[in-house]
Amino acid sequence: MKKYLVIGNPIEHSYSPKLHNYWIKKNNINAVYEKKQINKEDLKNIIFDIKKERLGGINVTVPFKKFIIPFLDELSPEADETKSVNTIYLQNGKVLGHNTDISGFELGIKYSKYDVKNKIVFILGAGGVAPSIILALKKMGASKIIISNRTKEKAEDLKNFFHELEVIDWGETPTFDMVINATSIGLKNEDGIKLDYSGMGHNKFFYDVIYNPKETIFLKRAKLFGNRTENGKMMFIYQAHQAFTIWHKLMPDIDDETITLLEK
Ligand code: ATR
Repeated sequence: MKKYLVIGNPIEHSYSPKLHNYWIKKNNINAVYEKKQINKEDLKNIIFDIKKERLGGINVTVPFKKFIIPFLDELSPEADETKSVNTIYLQNGKVLGHNTDISGFELGIKYSKYDVKNKIVFILGAGGVAPSIILALKKMGASKIIISNRTKEKAEDLKNFFHELEVIDWGETPTFDMVINATSIGLKNEDGIKLDYSGMGHNKFFYDVIYNPKETIFLKRAKLFGNRTENGKMMFIYQAHQAFTIWHKLMPDIDDETITLLEK
């Protein structure tokens, strides 16, 4: 039986095992997917387990998407461009790091039928997921991407990779069509981002990368002021879908049952 893992720290919140094991069972695959909380020192041994085929593949989550890179043999163009890896597997004897967050985000937005083309997008947060979102937004034709992060240097660092970014101070609100919460604020139910929601106008698109809780304070407030909202559930499903397809060479269904699975 092949074993797959999602590694991170913390990891309890991850729904990846639930989703992957559901697809594994549904497609009669002889495999199991588990979550494992690890420390930086464990990364080397985990990659060795892939090389020795004791592990079929791994997903990587916060805070290791960048730290894992030096341990890998090769990066896909997507992982290289974002310096962020969320999916790992053995290809032609080499341990390859890939990024399925970029297409996960793109497909998630398309699923919600929002057209990013020529829109001004404001991103809150410059952490691990930000480069993948920026790359996807560029690909989808956003006219302008503005970013703000509590630690401004991290947003400035991103500008070195993506020169067209506009960096503004944390707490400032620009004119925008779509705003994305790419921070971890909201993972705890009581957390809210200090934003002037009343001054932001209406009919904007508020997107939160967080999917658990289902509706963060960010989305709740946005809704109160007459805006459209979406959480990160479909992004999460699509990034997992791509990883599953690569590992098992089989495209699982994303049906109503798959989607409701994550609401329980
Ligand atoms: P990492 O920063 O290690 O990449 P992450 O979970 O991917 O971790 O990103 C966390 C993001 O949420 C960061 O943008 C972080 O801002 P800082 O770079 O200033 O740390 C942001 N964040 C988390 N808690 C926050 C808070 N209370 N207020 C503002 N931003 C916060």
